Amino acid sequence: MRRFEGKRAVVTGGASGIGRATALRLVAEGAEVLIGDIDDDGAMAVVGEGDGRIAYQRCDVMDPSDIAALMATAHADGGIDALFNNAGAGGLRAKIDEIDVAGWDMTQNLLLRSVALGIRAAAPLMAKRGGGAIVNTASIAALMSGAAPTAYSVAKAGVLHLSKMAAADLAQHRIRVNAVCPGFITTNIFTSTVGIEGEKRDQANRMIARMASNAQPVARAGRPEDIAAAVAYLLSDDAAFVTGTHILIDGGMAVGMRHSWDPDTPGLFDSLQTFTA
Ligand code: NAI
Repeated sequence: MRRFEGKRAVVTGGASGIGRATALRLVAEGAEVLIGDIDDDGAMAVVGEGDGRIAYQRCDVMDPSDIAALMATAHADGGIDALFNNAGAGGLRAKIDEIDVAGWDMTQNLLLRSVALGIRAAAPLMAKRGGGAIVNTASIAALMSGAAPTAYSVAKAGVLHLSKMAAADLAQHRIRVNAVCPGFITTNIFTSTVGIEGEKRDQANRMIARMASNAQPVARAGRPEDIAAAVAYLLSDDAAFVTGTHILIDGGMAVGMRHSWDPDTPGLFDSLQTFTA
């Protein structure tokens, strides 16, 4: 499929994980991509994988002027057809009765304000080109408790509603806005959130990959490419009639804990057989 031939996309958080996989997917389908991130080394590695079609500009999505500058560069280089507001990290991990103001504000600014400002900066530039498509990264944590910390989950729920509001506001400019809700996806987000680096990070990521393969009915770990496929769909003309909604890509995690394939998680009535035998 070459759904992005001649199209130009901006991807935040493109140096790693879901952003990296999405940038590479869009390039594979014909796009030119500008990634924004704060990890210069990671971003330059992705640039190297991009067949000359990925560029990088440092952009801290906590900084409104960085976001505006990223969109301005993309616009000056030829315009923005597609935007993936995706950069993020785990944020404050405290429970609601332990939260401090600075941590709360940091988490909301990183995960929610950044998305609003990304849309704010890109939409007028897309409108000038006659339209575009935006996808924002929410989370399964936007839909249920128990998947992530409180401040993070509330910010991601905000991303879902922001996506709906923006879809309504921007329809007049032929701009569609949707969200993706990843489940448990094996990326560096877990180790980076708690500051584990180097060889220890590799060890921790191997443990996380084992946990991720047992976390949902589909019997394997979630991959960044699983999310990239959904983002590419929503950004493409295949989704021309889709706006203001989200896709949950979670391997079935939200349907519940029962794994029909996993003998180690028997159902209640299977367990009761020991009493009836
Ligand atoms: P990742 O850690 O692999 O990638 C996140 C990227 O965002 C990194 O390149 C990082 O440098 C960048 N970033 C962090 N803070 C930034 C800032 N202030 N400005 C610019 N860039 C910044 O993690 P992953 O998993 O790919 O995360 C991408 C998005 O997916 C995040 O919004 C995350 O909350 C969301 N998500 C991830 C899930 C998972 O299980 N991995 C589940 C649900 C949502």
